Amino acid sequence: MAQIIDGKKISTELKDDVRVEIEALKEKGIEVALAVILVGQDPASTVYVNNKKKACEYTGIKSVSYELPEETTESELLALIDQLNQDDAIHGILVQLPLPKHISEKEVIRRISPDKDVDGFHPESVGRLSIGEPGFVSCTPAGIIELLKRSGVEIAGKHAVVIGRSNIVGKPMAMLLLRENATVTVCHSKTQNIRELTKQGDILIAAVGQPRMIDASYVKEGAVVIDVGIHRTGEGKKLCGDVDYDSVFPVAGMITPVPGGVGPMTIAGLMKNCLEAAKLREEL
Ligand code: GUN
Repeated sequence: MAQIIDGKKISTELKDDVRVEIEALKEKGIEVALAVILVGQDPASTVYVNNKKKACEYTGIKSVSYELPEETTESELLALIDQLNQDDAIHGILVQLPLPKHISEKEVIRRISPDKDVDGFHPESVGRLSIGEPGFVSCTPAGIIELLKRSGVEIAGKHAVVIGRSNIVGKPMAMLLLRENATVTVCHSKTQNIRELTKQGDILIAAVGQPRMIDASYVKEGAVVIDVGIHRTGEGKKLCGDVDYDSVFPVAGMITPVPGGVGPMTIAGLMKNCLEAAKLREEL
């Protein structure tokens, strides 16, 4: 039977650590500020942005909110980013994705100064991660590493299997696990005999985007199972992850629930990145 990893509790610990440092910066006269840009009114994005603003309030980071109409043009958005890049009172810039179809996410991400790229999506940030230089790392995988470390999971020398290869989770996750000296396998939709690989994972990261796809047949006895998925399914629109929790729970050594596992760690990771952005700028 698995030990449940409490992401809510661990994310609060991380946010508390950030809060202490933010407070110390305040005493030196530095107010850490994050600009949050939302274009349009996608309901899921609105919820995510509100949660990010709440976390800012909790940690003492000032959030400066830009809620722009759906019709905003790409050049208007790029002009706002230029202005925020220049603004010394702003330490981090976050543009909530997805953007409306008429705006190129690629152009928008590239326009954010790498020094303020608290999402870690800029090609410069991704490049830094891959060559082991300090820089911003995508918040969900960064949060997962914190979750593993704070749960006492040894990463070095372990076989970590990542299912999924997205730019936001799968790829940076693999890079971070490699940086922590794990042996890393990445599986995806074209992987053959996938269970033969996933059943070797001491640490199994499920980031496939398919509700409850990963059942016990994918999991090695005693593995640490991290569920990145979040879906609303069925009549009652109950939340579930990429992992079939009831099937995997008896087999795994440790497991993250949905909700209350990885989700809160993503936002805590963002808060940590904002703090790092401020320290970098102030050369602390
Ligand atoms: N949309 C879904 N996840 C994310 C995220 O981590 N950052 C941003 N900016 N948008 C997202």
